[in-house]
This record gives sequence, structure tokens and C-alpha cells, in this order.
Amino acid sequence: MSLRLGDTAPDFEQDSSEGKISFHSWLGDSWGILFSHPADFTPVCTTELGLTAKLKDEFSKRNVKAIALSVDDTESHKSWINDINETQGCQVNFPIIADGDRKVSTLYDMIHPNADNSLTVRSLFVIDPNKKVRLMITYPASTGRNFNEVLRVIDSLQLTDEHKVATPGNWESGGDVVIVPSLQDEDEIKQRFPKGYKAVKPYLRMTPDPKSNWGGN
Ligand code: BEZ
Repeated sequence: MSLRLGDTAPDFEQDSSEGKISFHSWLGDSWGILFSHPADFTPVCTTELGLTAKLKDEFSKRNVKAIALSVDDTESHKSWINDINETQGCQVNFPIIADGDRKVSTLYDMIHPNADNSLTVRSLFVIDPNKKVRLMITYPASTGRNFNEVLRVIDSLQLTDEHKVATPGNWESGGDVVIVPSLQDEDEIKQRFPKGYKAVKPYLRMTPDPKSNWGGN
């Protein structure tokens, strides 16, 4: 059965451009993004891996480690990394799994035979420090992913893990958030949200981002 949100991310050992990876111990206490691409030496994938390398500081700030995957071998990955660095003006600073035997692709259901029988699609999993799957996205080979969106979702996950809030559509860090409908106790609301809130409807209560230092939008 394929993975679902909240499932434990399957552990595995597999070779990579940085040597053998034992996934759960490699993750340690970090969040992780595990993402597949169809093949090395392809244009869209080259831009995606370059973007990921350039966002290293943004991922680190959020305690996130990135790891890529395709079914190509480690020699191919290492040679392609030189191209990525040269063409994207970056230093690839994360491992690329060499999944020639499809072990990880199968565990994570990254091969969609009706799209392509042998190559991985653009799957992406966000995994939290408890090794739970928190986000799954799947893009077609022809569409590169928006890694700013991945950061945005991680911001939302980390905020909503800490506070009794959810984030509205198109939310970005610092924007107003909604108080979860299950929170009804007014004393607790006052204590949790000292900046106050606006009840647009009884079920739609907006409050400033609890992590921001200003009054809200
Ligand atoms: C690419 O990364 O550019 C790509 C890979 C497979 C199919 C189409 C595009």
C-alpha cells in the first residue's frame, strides 16, 4: 500500500553520491525532504537540484536536510553534480541516492508506470523529526517544482506543531493565521494569543502569526 500522511517514513540503506546512507540515522533529529527526479543530465532536474543547493541556508534555518534520488548510479550522479555546479552557480551540498535497484522508489511509490515505466516521477516527501510523513507532492516530469513552496509548507508545519493555529491559503511566514476551531476556551485563547484575534465568523478567527514580533497584517 502506498504511503499516507502521518505514516512512518520507511527506513532504508542505499548508496548515494556521498556514500552509503542509512536513512533514519542520516536524518537524526532533523526534518528531511526526500525528493525524486526522473534522470540525471536532464534540464529541469538540473535547475531543481541547483535551487535546492542554493536554498541550503533556508533549509538549515528550519533544521531540514535535503536528499535527492534517481535510478542513475553514483558515478552518473557525481559527474552530473559537476554540471549542476557549473551551470547553476552553486555547490551541490546534499546527497543524491543511487536507486538502480528501485528499492527506495518502490518503498515510496515513486515510479508511476502509467506516466513512465522505469523512471521516478517528481515525488517529494517532507519528514518530521519523529520520522512521520508530513507532506507528499507529486509533479510530472515536465514541471519543475517550486522549492519556495516547500519552504512555505515547512514553515506552516513547524508553526502549527507549536501553536494551536492553522495557516490560510497562500499564507506566508509573518502573515495572519487562523485559530484552530477546536480551541474554544476564551481564557486559553487570551493566554495563547495575547495580540488578540478577529472573529470574521465564529469558525474563522484570525490572529497575527505567533512567531512574528509585530501586530499582524
Ligand atoms: C527534465 O528534467 O528536464 C526532464 C526529465 C524527464 C522528462 C522531461 C524533462
